[in-house]
Amino acid sequence: MPLKTEKIPLAHPLLIDLLKMAYSAEKAAAFAYQGHAASVKNKDEKAAIRQIEIDEWNHRREVLQIMEQYNVPVSRYYEVRFYIIGKMISMSCHIIGWFMPFYFAGRLESGNVCEYFRMKQYFNSLGIREHDKTLYEMGIKEKEHEVYFLEKIKTNKHLPLFEKLFAWGVFKSYNNIDLDKKYPVEDSDDYCRK
Ligand SMILES: [Fe+2]
Ligand SMILES: [Fe+2]
Repeated sequence: MPLKTEKIPLAHPLLIDLLKMAYSAEKAAAFAYQGHAASVKNKDEKAAIRQIEIDEWNHRREVLQIMEQYNVPVSRYYEVRFYIIGKMISMSCHIIGWFMPFYFAGRLESGNVCEYFRMKQYFNSLGIREHDKTLYEMGIKEKEHEVYFLEKIKTNKHLPLFEKLFAWGVFKSYNNIDLDKKYPVEDSDDYCRK
């Protein structure tokens, strides 16, 4: 009789929810960057944002692969919710000027970084280490996105006010990763610990 490959269920509700949410949120991000890339005139900015959009689609694919491995279904609720959010942000990029799409993209990326490091911690708490590298790389990629957007606006005259109002900018980040002094994957347990 052929061996059946059993899918192992994940005994971790927070992890399951985080996977479902990240999968759908990556689509929202990709949609948002479609609008963002279309709204900027500068060719280099367009190309960079287009590349970030591709990164987000890749993340979505990688998250799905992990979900399938543990039989985690895609959430229809998150898919609809993030579809609407992504399309709304995408449209708004055409009407809110140059600064705000860069600012809020950076702020969002800043928060996304820790989603992948938190996933890694959750998997590790179950004794599962096989996704460490993938999750680490996705988290670092989000950090690179954050840094790209911050670099674009860090000398902009609007930033001090926005940083005060929305708690992200040159002095405030939603994660503790420093790309210049990056820890390797095996020493990255202190990233995003609350
Ligand atoms: Fe992403
Ligand atoms: Fe990103």
